[in-house]
Amino acid sequence: MTDRRNKINRDRINLPIGLFDSGMGGLTVLKAINACLPAEDVIYLGDTARLPYGTKGKETIVRYTLQAVGKLVDMGVKMLVIACNTATSAALPVLRERFAPLPVLGVVEPGAMAAARASRNGVIVVIATEATISSGVYQEAITRIRPDARVIGRACTLFVPLAEEGWMKGPVVEGAAKRYLKDIFNPVVTAPRPDTLLLGCTHFPLLLPALRHVTGNSASIVDSAATTAYCAHDELVPLGMARAGRTGTCRFLTTDNRDRFARTGSLFLGRPLKTTDVELVDL
Ligand code: DGL
Repeated sequence: MTDRRNKINRDRINLPIGLFDSGMGGLTVLKAINACLPAEDVIYLGDTARLPYGTKGKETIVRYTLQAVGKLVDMGVKMLVIACNTATSAALPVLRERFAPLPVLGVVEPGAMAAARASRNGVIVVIATEATISSGVYQEAITRIRPDARVIGRACTLFVPLAEEGWMKGPVVEGAAKRYLKDIFNPVVTAPRPDTLLLGCTHFPLLLPALRHVTGNSASIVDSAATTAYCAHDELVPLGMARAGRTGTCRFLTTDNRDRFARTGSLFLGRPLKTTDVELVDL
């Protein structure tokens, strides 16, 4: 059995890692995977035609995610990373069951780990989409790791279109950040004051400068990107499926508007992307 499994893993080692997000936010996770696993090829799929997922009902999110992830699986991948908190919170168990024995990683558990580690006083604010917050997955995952934690969840719906528009700072973004979060970070309203803000949506790292205005400098702001990349590394290595000694490639797939994906995707990725780097796919 072990020999058979080792052979399957050897056959699959050269396949890419498949990354999925509803849009371009997951590129923040791709960047971390490139840094942590530089020899791996990666295929990234952003379902920009149907973004946002975060305001939709659970059944729709699961259906869209299964279709999109099914596309990556059909193309041949050795591991799936669901680089979308909304899709992870709604569909991770279904994906693991549907695509077993393929390893499927989500971003919620790694994000919860990062926040639980960063917080000193245990008061943690999670900001995410409506669907992620109402699912309660972060509240559960953080208190599982750290039972003393007090987790305050807040849906910040407008942050997704602002990030997709590439608005990282300025009065509009700062105004939205204040409107969503000012009360939580006011020590008169929330005592003790939260010392950690967890970005529970892969789009939100882009808004860091505006979020800092509200949290002040003493709070830690964490996201799941780096921890997810370490988890991918820790999963691939014992399976004998990690590549080494080469520079990996990235393929970018979108379900709509390659120009826009290249333009805004460059901001999330922190390096230039051209329209010709992006392929249009139909689900
Ligand atoms: N990037 C997705 C997440 O991490 C949210 C974007 C959306 O609403 O589709 O939750």
